[in-house]
Amino acid sequence: MTTYEEAIELAKRRGFFWPSFSIYGGQSGFYDYGPLGVLLKENIVKAWRDEYLRLGAIFIDTPNLSPEMVFRASGHLEKFSDLAARCSKCGSKYKLESLLKKAGIADIPTDVKQANNLLENISIRCEKCGAEIKEVYDFNLMFALEKNEKEASRLYLRPETAQGIFINFRLLSNYFRGKLPMAVGQLGKGFRNEISPRNALIRLREFYQGEVEVFYDPEKPGFADIPVFEETTFLPMDHNEKRMTVREASNSGLIRNPVLAHFVFRTQKILSSIGLGDGVIRFRQHEKNELAHYSSDCWDAEAKLENEWVEIVGISDRASYDLKRHAEFSGENMVITDGDRKFIPSVVEPSFGIDRTVLSVIMVSIYTRENGSKVLKLNTSIAPYIASILPLQKKDGVDVLAKDIYSSILETESRIQYDESGSIGRRYARQDEVGTPYCITVDYESLEDRSVTVRERDSTKQVRISTDSLKQNSGHLATYLDSLFA
Ligand code: GAP
Repeated sequence: MTTYEEAIELAKRRGFFWPSFSIYGGQSGFYDYGPLGVLLKENIVKAWRDEYLRLGAIFIDTPNLSPEMVFRASGHLEKFSDLAARCSKCGSKYKLESLLKKAGIADIPTDVKQANNLLENISIRCEKCGAEIKEVYDFNLMFALEKNEKEASRLYLRPETAQGIFINFRLLSNYFRGKLPMAVGQLGKGFRNEISPRNALIRLREFYQGEVEVFYDPEKPGFADIPVFEETTFLPMDHNEKRMTVREASNSGLIRNPVLAHFVFRTQKILSSIGLGDGVIRFRQHEKNELAHYSSDCWDAEAKLENEWVEIVGISDRASYDLKRHAEFSGENMVITDGDRKFIPSVVEPSFGIDRTVLSVIMVSIYTRENGSKVLKLNTSIAPYIASILPLQKKDGVDVLAKDIYSSILETESRIQYDESGSIGRRYARQDEVGTPYCITVDYESLEDRSVTVRERDSTKQVRISTDSLKQNSGHLATYLDSLFA
């Protein structure tokens, strides 16, 4: 089994995620989160949100559906499309880029005319019926609803959460008392009618994004400070891979915009805190012909999943594109005044794909012990549960003491579980497999001296601690238990 297959199998069996609608035959591009997946996802979201809260960001929550004017202004109606290829014999549809990449063609055409010219000169065959593919067209990725008779325009499902922030700029700026820089975040769903949804959480048709729009004055940008952090790998547009810190990448001009560099650093910090550190992550600059219509520069954080680099975060320089377009289409005033100067702010946008991050975390954490059992080496901060309380016996008062410890910790920490079914070895294995870092075992000795055993998942080392100190430290259980094995 590949790591990907192992991750997908474990995710379904242990309740992280699984394909949606399976009792009706399934529908590609949709996944459900199960009980443990919901917790893992929320812990990842918390790591993302906390980093921005510490930076003074504010957060909003806007609708999934938007009227047509929003996307006419944002340019998505006209430009948010992929080149699609259709087999004229069997009707199969493909994303042209995927077909060409499989055929070893790296120079991907950017419009229908270029694509037609290319297909005149090469032979690309349908993967289903083998016929030669010659038909290429623009396929808009937005989902549109049927127009309601009473309304002037149709509604679209948003392809990114960002527009909900841009169109509220005036209100948000008033709330922020006109100060810049201003970082505004939103966690929500994006919807894209992907031509070929694939690889579970990697290419979905409905997915979570954690986006932050950082509005700043281009003449006084702020975010000048980029702390020294671990070295990372950069793959710039010229394909000359470099190793350096983000601070060096900014100072040397490798990342042109210092504000964008600052948010590459923030992204690196968040990813590292959830177990996606150096060796797993690189930052790749978009090629000119790859940039979205609103972007003048973009660096992706990519995770190495088996041998493939997968984009999980896009950090884009949107300049004043969106605010200018919405000002033009709506008449709203998007101008900031600073003394005599009036200007429309610039924007840098770090956009996290939450689902891809969840899958990446599982894929880089999974390993197999010599005895064949699986372990998820999740950081304590994001594991669904910090600890599981396990009574060695279900009798003689051992269970009563274990339940007492459990309910006492629950008063301050909810990320704990109680498990009394099966042998202790099986219970350890079950917890290892879902990434629980600590098992707290209550035994006959506990009844005598009020002590318990704490077992650490990866080393399987055990230490004995008093129930009093466990209860006293339950308000910061994760750091307390981590410190026992540091
Ligand atoms: N607002 C900018 C924006 O949407 P993007 O690069 O298209 O930029 C940002 O998307 C992130 O959203 C990506 O890095 C990726 O992690 C995630 N994403 C995009 N399309 C996705 C899809 N079809 N399925 C799952 N995640 C997706």
